[in-house]
Amino acid sequence: MTEQFIIVEDHDDIPSNPTDNPRVSDMINARLTRRGFFKGLMATSAVAGAGLATASLSKIARADAASTLTFKSIPQTITKTHAVADGYNADIVIRWGDKVVSDASSFIAGQVDANAQNKQFGYNCDYVGYMPLPIGSDNSDHGLLYVNHEYTNAEMMWPGLKDAMGASQEQALHEIAAHGASIIEVKKENGKWNVIERSKYARRISALDTDMVITGPAAGHDRLKTGTDATGTRVVGTLNNCAGGKTPWGTVLMAEENFNGYFGGDIAKTNEERNHKRYGIEPDSWYSWVKYFDRFNVEKEPNEPNKFGWMVEVDPYDPTSTPKKRTALGRFKHEGATVFVTADNTVVVYSGDDQRFDYLYKFVASKKYNPSDRASNMDILDDGTLYVAKFNENGTLDWMPIIHGEGPLTAANDFNSMADVLIETRRAADLLGATKMDRPEDVEPNPVNGKVYVMLTNNSKRTDVNVVNPRAKNVHGHILELTPPGGRGKDADHAATTFTWDIMILCGNPANPDDKAVYHPAAESWVSCPDNMAVDHRGRLWISTDGAPNSNIPDGMHATDVEGPGRALTKFFFACPEGAEMCGPEFTPDGKTLFLAVQHPADGSTYDAPSTRWPDFVDGMPARPSVVAVTKQDDGEIAG
Ligand code: FEO
Ligand code: CA
Ligand code: CA
Ligand code: CA
Repeated sequence: MTEQFIIVEDHDDIPSNPTDNPRVSDMINARLTRRGFFKGLMATSAVAGAGLATASLSKIARADAASTLTFKSIPQTITKTHAVADGYNADIVIRWGDKVVSDASSFIAGQVDANAQNKQFGYNCDYVGYMPLPIGSDNSDHGLLYVNHEYTNAEMMWPGLKDAMGASQEQALHEIAAHGASIIEVKKENGKWNVIERSKYARRISALDTDMVITGPAAGHDRLKTGTDATGTRVVGTLNNCAGGKTPWGTVLMAEENFNGYFGGDIAKTNEERNHKRYGIEPDSWYSWVKYFDRFNVEKEPNEPNKFGWMVEVDPYDPTSTPKKRTALGRFKHEGATVFVTADNTVVVYSGDDQRFDYLYKFVASKKYNPSDRASNMDILDDGTLYVAKFNENGTLDWMPIIHGEGPLTAANDFNSMADVLIETRRAADLLGATKMDRPEDVEPNPVNGKVYVMLTNNSKRTDVNVVNPRAKNVHGHILELTPPGGRGKDADHAATTFTWDIMILCGNPANPDDKAVYHPAAESWVSCPDNMAVDHRGRLWISTDGAPNSNIPDGMHATDVEGPGRALTKFFFACPEGAEMCGPEFTPDGKTLFLAVQHPADGSTYDAPSTRWPDFVDGMPARPSVVAVTKQDDGEIAG
């Protein structure tokens, strides 16, 4: 979700962390002071800004030699449509409103029909997971696509609306059905990806009617009981599913991010005031739904928000499976979750809490992964230890366990059980002294070099100026690199409780000295607001952005080497159409297809006067969030 969207909707991403815990920006400044400079990089104001405007030819030549990425960067120019590097195709796979399940109806512009939407592709596609068919294979031409639908823009979906609050009850129901996820079967034939109609795997998961169970240590707790669920173990649907990840046993993790925005009412009238305040629930909801449905009104259902903010595990290979909210992974505004299995089959899950001044987490499961028994892996995420990150000035980082009864996490602080600790994960982490981050979005291990990359998208609220790194407002964000002990690849011990850390890139425009950006001196593109990421099978980093339109450049995909002479030498591969942010980067195992999600095209305008009608460009058709498949015209590996 863009910062821009949040501002437009007048529900600014107000930091809700009340503690004095150190901020990562303080730590970075201290570390830069100590080390003097970044490893292997130099700050520069002489290199190219948008479109290589100021780069000398000799620099471009050197850049080509340094980077292993074989494509030629495209200009960072906003247009009505998308753009991709020369030699590549970018084809639409599926759009908002396209058929998902077999008896779905076709999309009709302007239609309000929740039941129709509940069978069609939802709105604002975000996470994309490619799951090969058959299960367990590395088939790169036939598989399932798991796509999250993070949120809705009512004013972009129907005529006559200026904002989300104007939606009618029928429109609200349609929006509820447009949330969740879609599972489709896709096949590549003659170089093009097609959706298989009437697939037995096709499924819509929505906030309208998909029953889910709540599992793990918080399941069944009184604080999860509501008027419609006396067991504290059931919930209808999932909300604000941003990014996600895949497990090696063939399930998907879908994150519940800004769940607070769906609720309204006076939290002071509930027994959960401190809890709801820490997650940012305010009297005014971001959506109209609270006007029509009691479950979104905390005065009527004070515990309903406690059923959201979790990681949801779904088995896409079994369309009858019940999604599970895994409480052991903690409750916060999960951007996503990514899994690494260590050499001894220990399962480690990384996840960021995407809010200004909130934290970085990882979970280490108790039970080992068993590669030869899928069924035995299906409850691995119900038991283990959740950790929160504390960054130290000496370049180390401590993963602090969040365990009931240890340290401050006792009844003295109103934590009477592990369920209490997990329901209020943020407050538990506050008390442990976790490091306040600049909005952690994707956190992803690199299977090749064994390091972990953290996208810190921005933090315009930062005021703590430091003379060494005077980015008082971190409007462009930065990228961290965490190093577990043990070695490269499978040798990396992601379960360890002490890592080291470095900054890989300080984003912003290197042509603008005020940005204090740091890249490779021959960087061909500049990054604003890194958000999601993918690692290709050569271990190179692909970075998607959210918020760059504020900088007069399009959001899209950048890529860089992480090692060797091309480290931090960013190149620009794909540009979104006007108004859109880039989500869902996902490679097929052979590296020949890159799936991308184009979210909220034409954002900032309305259905009645859209700034673009991407991707159809037909009069009367609204802009439609869509998944794109990028392939190389010679059928080669992307950037290979
Ligand atoms: Fe949904 Fe953190 O972006
Ligand atoms: Ca974002
Ligand atoms: Ca995001
Ligand atoms: Ca990713």
